[in-house]
Amino acid sequence: MATAKLDMSKLESLCRRRGFIFGSSEIYGGINGFWDYGPLGVELKKNIKDAWWQDMVRNPPPGPDGQEITMVGLDCSIIMNPKVWEASGHVGGFSDPMVDCKTCKRRFRADKVFWSFVATGVEGSDKPILYPGTPVDGFCVEANGHKEAMELCNEKAHKLARKSKERLPLTIMVPIPLNAFSPENYGTLPCPTTDCDGTLTEPRAFNLMFQTYVGAIQDAANIAYLRPETAQGIFVNFRNVLDSSRVKLPFGIAQVGKAFRNEINPRNYTFRSREFEQMEIEFFCHPAESMKWYEYWRDVRKNWYSTLGIKSDNLKPREQDEKELAHYSKATTDIEYMFPFSEEPQELEGVAHRGAFDLTAHMTKSGKDLTYFDEDAWNRDAANRKTNSFKEWLKTNPPREEIEKYQYVPHVVEPSAGADRFTLAVLCEAYTEDKQPDAKGNLEERLVMRFHPRLAPIKAAIFPLVKKDGMPEKAQALYRELKKHFKVEYDDGGAVGRRYRRQDEIGTPFCITIDGDTLKDDTVTIRDRDTLQQRRVPMAGVLEEIRKALG
Ligand code: GAP
Repeated sequence: MATAKLDMSKLESLCRRRGFIFGSSEIYGGINGFWDYGPLGVELKKNIKDAWWQDMVRNPPPGPDGQEITMVGLDCSIIMNPKVWEASGHVGGFSDPMVDCKTCKRRFRADKVFWSFVATGVEGSDKPILYPGTPVDGFCVEANGHKEAMELCNEKAHKLARKSKERLPLTIMVPIPLNAFSPENYGTLPCPTTDCDGTLTEPRAFNLMFQTYVGAIQDAANIAYLRPETAQGIFVNFRNVLDSSRVKLPFGIAQVGKAFRNEINPRNYTFRSREFEQMEIEFFCHPAESMKWYEYWRDVRKNWYSTLGIKSDNLKPREQDEKELAHYSKATTDIEYMFPFSEEPQELEGVAHRGAFDLTAHMTKSGKDLTYFDEDAWNRDAANRKTNSFKEWLKTNPPREEIEKYQYVPHVVEPSAGADRFTLAVLCEAYTEDKQPDAKGNLEERLVMRFHPRLAPIKAAIFPLVKKDGMPEKAQALYRELKKHFKVEYDDGGAVGRRYRRQDEIGTPFCITIDGDTLKDDTVTIRDRDTLQQRRVPMAGVLEEIRKALG
């Protein structure tokens, strides 16, 4: 089923009811932009992070020329020396322009607010009348992109027209993002909040890093930051990894961990949170090979989502155009997903060619050498030189291109994914309502989470058909055997049909029933969540059946 029109409030209610996601600190009224994962949510997110680690770090796909690729992991501290963030540019520049409403005091990202106005056609006149007055008192909406802004403008314009009993056809003018206005105009722009007649402040840069103090004294010398990305921990450990694990270029360092951003306007459930987890890779390679590796990672990362059940129609890789690219980047692709809350695809992951930008910045700030010396290349060309000492050879003033064959600042390709964003995409993709026959053959509504078996929080549920005749004992024995390998559930409460529905709602791919025949021949039925087919298999083969489905 296409998820494009899924009503997010239904998903949120399921996630709450069945223990996937709760608002943080709810008993105290919650806190905007922070979320807690419940018993099922934590299994789902862990399966996602484990799948990423397994497929990208322990067993990555072969490289562009079919070769094995080298990947290692890292787990860095969340708080680092603040100089890291000065070098990376986050202290000076990690900011979004934001505007406040002077009346209701709500805060918005300037690039997410759009201004528009409405013209009505007047019979007998080719001149439009501006409605509700002049462009200056048009209206604003808050949206993820142009298409969504147009829809919201439509809704708002019709509401305004109904209020004023205007009956003429409306033409909504193309919405303009606020950041297209010059700052002195902001004071006349209306607040996007419904029923607020305030106007906006000028845009101000707002640093997204959470600041804290290290140690007892709260002064400027002790300021530190919660990391806004895991990537910098990798760059500052580049030399350590190189020296301690004897890896050779090209190779990648991966890290999964929390990141924190004081987002101006957290929204769309967990999509934009203030605390979230990233799954990042920094892949280091020779500059001449960097485009090859960029293309490799772009394709590997896009395909990974498909192998975990994301439909290709919902996945939209988008190559950034030149205007969008960071000044140091030769190419970047945003892997976007059609989340149901937006008319436009939204970023799941960015795959960026970052050139030598990060290592150069840390080399300059720290004064430490973060270049790579390619010993294999140096030894291979030994016959062409008079000396085997690189230092001596440098004294002969070889041209730069020659030196860079052996010693260079590696280029970096960075696939940077969000674990929470992908968890949200998986939840959206899995949510399905259908109709299935009940025990009497009458069709009844069914809510089923069609998770890929690898990601499903519970892999199988084990039911005794009835709570007597030795069935619970057999079922418990199977449960105890399976739980050594997977997260499984034992359920003996209520009619089997009801138990199936409970498991469908949490996306359990297999339900295994122990019945009268099991007692005679040690076979069980396995019911498939998606096809609803029931097969009889030997109890001893159940473990293998589930393993096969997990791939
Ligand atoms: N090191 C590069 C970097 O951090 P980014 O595009 O800012 O790049 C990478 O973030 C990924 O982290 C995004 O594609 C998204 O999946 C996730 N992410 C970023 N901000 C987020 C937020 N506020 N809430 C949830 N996930 C977020």
